[in-house]
Amino acid sequence: MSTHVLGALADIAPGGVKKFDVGGRAIAVVRIGNDIYALGDTCSHADISLSEGEVLPASKEIECWKHGSAFSLVTGAPSTLPALKPVPVYDVSVVDNNIVLVIEESTGSIEGAAS
Ligand code: FES
Repeated sequence: MSTHVLGALADIAPGGVKKFDVGGRAIAVVRIGNDIYALGDTCSHADISLSEGEVLPASKEIECWKHGSAFSLVTGAPSTLPALKPVPVYDVSVVDNNIVLVIEESTGSIEGAAS
């Protein structure tokens, strides 16, 4: 497990998203109100940065700008085609107004979790 302080909550506007490189992983951090979410930045359909997409606050999703798949900020699962696979989600919280990300090394990716 590794813990990373990514910066101040105020660095991301409400309804905004910011991309971070954390130990070689591209991670999109999304803020809705004072809630914060972290998910893999690369769309599971093609090599596109989700942080360049649109945050959908009402459904707590982020939409890939390339083909329009929307991914849950909570589960990482896509709710619309063409993407079929989820993107990983990460444990993130706000501590003393700082964004703190925790990566469980063994569960950093949900690929291959079956069986
Ligand atoms: S690249 Fe993201 S939906 Fe196609």
